[in-house]
Amino acid sequence: MKKTRRDLLLAALPLAALPLTGAGDVLAQPAGPSGRLDPTPACGDGHGATPAQTEGPYFTPNSPRRTALYEPGMDGTRLRVGGLVLDRACRPLSNVLVDLWQADAQGRYDNAGYRLRGHQFTDAEGRWQFDSVLPAIYVGRTRHLHVKLQPRGGKILTTQLYFPSDVAGNARDRIFDKRLLMNTAGDAEQMIARYDFVLA
Ligand SMILES: [Fe+2]
Repeated sequence: MKKTRRDLLLAALPLAALPLTGAGDVLAQPAGPSGRLDPTPACGDGHGATPAQTEGPYFTPNSPRRTALYEPGMDGTRLRVGGLVLDRACRPLSNVLVDLWQADAQGRYDNAGYRLRGHQFTDAEGRWQFDSVLPAIYVGRTRHLHVKLQPRGGKILTTQLYFPSDVAGNARDRIFDKRLLMNTAGDAEQMIARYDFVLA
């Protein structure tokens, strides 16, 4: 079987962790003046804590613990999304629960099972990452991901993340908040997206 560029690219990427620095960096994509995906927001740049947003109607508790939400045969652009979880002093937070749920490439949520739903805990450097697919834009909303974060014993932050390429959809969306825009790079086959959460 012929390997596509996407297969080669994905095969070259370590699945266990999201390298944020160094050679071969998964985020060292052609985006931003630094030649890699820049932090979002740049902690310490006067940004406050990541804003909360509505949960929406499709959250399902007790998602499986996993980083791979993509399943063979799923349609759509492959999406690797990740970043850091930081405190207000820009220190990485480990062991933070990160639960992500989203629509598929047809705009459907799985409300019977756990397709495109999962949770994980940030590692010692505060990193989180999911391998997934790009959600479709469905009627009434711009393209988005849903996330819940919870430090051990701490308060839950429920929010959503957005894609900067969907300019018209973001402008129309009543829930959209530009503070929740990810940094993205990629093409129709694969997208890499970064967001760094700052918890109060
Ligand atoms: Fe949604």
